[in-house]
Amino acid sequence: MEQELEKLRSDAAAELDQISSSGQLEDFRIKYLGRNGQLSGLMKLLGSVAKEDRPRLGKLANLVRGELEKFFSEKSAALLKQHDHSEKPDLSLPGRQRTNGRLHPVTQCMEEICSIFASMGFSIAEGPDIELDHYNFAALNIPEHHPARDMHDTFYIGNSVLLRTHTSPMQARIMEKQPPPIRVIAPGKVYRCDSDITHTPMFQQVEGFLVDRNISFADLKGVLTVSLQKIFEKDLEVRFRPSFFPFTEPSAEVDIACVICGGDGCRVCKKTGWIEILGSGMIDPEVFKMVGYDSEIYSGFAFGLGVERIAMLKYGIDDIRLYYENDLRFLSQF
Ligand code: PHE
Repeated sequence: MEQELEKLRSDAAAELDQISSSGQLEDFRIKYLGRNGQLSGLMKLLGSVAKEDRPRLGKLANLVRGELEKFFSEKSAALLKQHDHSEKPDLSLPGRQRTNGRLHPVTQCMEEICSIFASMGFSIAEGPDIELDHYNFAALNIPEHHPARDMHDTFYIGNSVLLRTHTSPMQARIMEKQPPPIRVIAPGKVYRCDSDITHTPMFQQVEGFLVDRNISFADLKGVLTVSLQKIFEKDLEVRFRPSFFPFTEPSAEVDIACVICGGDGCRVCKKTGWIEILGSGMIDPEVFKMVGYDSEIYSGFAFGLGVERIAMLKYGIDDIRLYYENDLRFLSQF
């Protein structure tokens, strides 16, 4: 028995040296250490040896078991190390690319517009998206039941609370707090219940207004012409067309020569050679009256431009919805 245990130990040690895979190691474990393995087989025989030899042989058998278990765990650690690449970096793997975040094209365009007006002495003010009926309409000379309200496709939140349909409420908010002279732009989101290739339910506007003594329509034309040329970075032609807004009188819609075809006529300008870009006008004396300005002393102009519209023309985009689908293939081009 003693010899058999010794032989088992040396056989196992010799066999272990040949093992090079975890499959072979498992076979080794079953063969020597398993419940029906060789060591268990020998231990079962302990019962039949002479009583006085039993303690010594039992001890030896346990020693051999301990040794085999040690062999096994050392080998299994060695194999694991051999196959585990996580400790050593694989220098042949391609690197993980990180993409840089960037500003949304409409935000980029908005920031450009704001900095152009800031360079002309306008300060920047922001107001609430959730607006009172009063500022969105009544204070802008659009009383209840006025047909002009229909044009706005308003999202109402409550009886007198709504999502602002334009940034013009900022005219009333600023003027009722601040005496002239003022020169302010108010950028921000506006909402209208409308959606197609040229409309999204949320879009962005920049409102601008200037009030002082002796401000005339010539000032409006001058400021808007120069700013549009700066925004589009070329000496484009600008056209002022009579229009109507309840809060300006006279009012004008402003067109620029089509930046796509240069005025020859194309799909974008609907063959007219012109593209409508903003609404503007001299601030109506009724609006001044409501904010407490004396229209005998002061006059001023206001305008509101659509930022997505300008960004579409600047970047040659023909569907406004692309800006709000959050497709990185589109957004990462800017
Ligand atoms: N608020 C108008 C609109 O959204 C634009 C505008 C602003 C017109 C200021 C005149 C003066 O359509």
